[in-house]
Amino acid sequence: MPDLAPARILGIESSCDETAAAILENGRLLLASTVASQIDLHARYGGVFPEVASRQHIRTVYAIVEQALQQAHLTLADVDAIAVTRGPGLAGSLVVGMNMAKGLALASGKPLVGVNHLEGHIYSAWVHPANTTPLPPAPQFPLLALLVSGGHSELNLMTDHLHYQRLGATLDDAAGEAFDKVARLLGLPYPGGPSIQKAAAEGNPQAFHFPRARLDGTWNFSFSGLKTAVLRLVRSFEEQQQPLPVADLAASFQEAVVDVLLTKTLAAARQFGAQQILVAGGVSANRALRQAFLNQQEFPVHIPSLSLCTDNAAMIAAAGYFRYALGHCDSLDMDVLPTWPLS
Ligand code: KG4
Ligand code: ZN
Repeated sequence: MPDLAPARILGIESSCDETAAAILENGRLLLASTVASQIDLHARYGGVFPEVASRQHIRTVYAIVEQALQQAHLTLADVDAIAVTRGPGLAGSLVVGMNMAKGLALASGKPLVGVNHLEGHIYSAWVHPANTTPLPPAPQFPLLALLVSGGHSELNLMTDHLHYQRLGATLDDAAGEAFDKVARLLGLPYPGGPSIQKAAAEGNPQAFHFPRARLDGTWNFSFSGLKTAVLRLVRSFEEQQQPLPVADLAASFQEAVVDVLLTKTLAAARQFGAQQILVAGGVSANRALRQAFLNQQEFPVHIPSLSLCTDNAAMIAAAGYFRYALGHCDSLDMDVLPTWPLS
């Protein structure tokens, strides 16, 4: 691949419950990143309330973009293109970021680039703070990418930039969704992933042996059986009026998820001749998962820094850079795509 032209990208993300903006140089160097989280607003509903999310994006998006430019000591005139999440996500949330990006593109005459949120998560592994020296090597193709977020869990083989061959995906719950649902069963607060991780730190991962759906012969995942197994156990503790061993249940559940994700990803990397592995999406913030991937010696692994695992705009700017540099810009007619597979 020839060297790509340098460019500074403004990224905007609003697909779910985070309003975010970032400025990124050459797809890798992060000059500024601002994220307004709505977690507190949605916590009382136990999940994201779409109407509330959309209204909150409207309130914050302008200030968030302005803050990112200020943090980077730049103005709109200093960026080369505007990248925005086009989908998948909540329609009412996506349109807020999209309209902001279109307005900025129209006013400044800068090109507009629509980015798939899942592609963004994958490209978060290219991003490092601007003062990182030396800059770690970029991920190399062929690359096996495990994407584990609140809405998606899938394995993609990337043979080049922006090329995804989906090998498999979850047949039911996404990994993050399983964390969120099991947290609710255990009486732990939303969002479930960080709550389970915290509870698990005090527990024994071998206390209970939960089923691992291997789905041999496919590259798919399934987490609903695991969730049901936790539910059954919780019910039996309740029926016997015994206190719930929350820490042990959380640790054993987490261990089962990590085991399946690691085993399957390594097997796929071997089978498809990948050189390296990449893990991204909200669940890649999980300490046990990161440790499991970093402990194996077979493949070099890229995992984004913690602040870039959950939704942010640096990842949208990163994917946007590679789209822009490879000639994929969009028109001002672009509409959001609430359902939009990566491959
Ligand atoms: O990528 P993300 O921020 O949003 C989506 O695109 O879905 O992922 C959010 C998901 C939630 O399900 C959350 O519980 C999970 O990522 N998550 C975690 C952790 N931090 C966030 N799951 C396990 N361990 C964590 N530390
Ligand atoms: Zn996400």
